[in-house]
Amino acid sequence: MAILPIIETPDARLKQISTPVETVTDAHRTLIADMFETMYDAPGIGLAAIQVGVAERILVIDLQREADDTPEDADPEKIVRVKEPRVFINPEVTWESDELSVYQEGCLSVPEMYADVQRPAEIQVKWLDEQGKAHDEKLDGLLATCLQHEMDHLNGVLFIDHLSKLKRDMLLKKLEKLRRSGRAA
Ligand code: NI
Repeated sequence: MAILPIIETPDARLKQISTPVETVTDAHRTLIADMFETMYDAPGIGLAAIQVGVAERILVIDLQREADDTPEDADPEKIVRVKEPRVFINPEVTWESDELSVYQEGCLSVPEMYADVQRPAEIQVKWLDEQGKAHDEKLDGLLATCLQHEMDHLNGVLFIDHLSKLKRDMLLKKLEKLRRSGRAA
């Protein structure tokens, strides 16, 4: 396994439309293992293949739930996280709720910038897993939001593209400043 370099905005590759995977191969499974390692190292909760320069419709997500025996008043530093890796190949939304939800989103390709984004609260999604097995599920909560964010990457869209131009320019300017000061790579 290997930690891959993550592409950051304004790299033109992030605007690319990724192509569907025809057959899931061992090369894809190696890429997926590397994507998980890269995502955990960052750390982040989701990563699209294009963020490591591969324009194929592949995503990894891990929301890492808290361990079952976590007390309500646990010290956040000491909470044990349980890994729940999920792979989505060729994901397709077939239904979305009218009801919307808002989450503060961030992105490994837009480091250290965060903003509220509104998306459908519930979605029905079809996808393949890393064995090529088909899934069709209704998802909600953070998983639904995270998956929609990652699916945007497959269409060349970043979360900042959902913001007003004013807000987006503000965030990009802030990111430039951070880079100049050497805090963001
Ligand atoms: Ni992202």
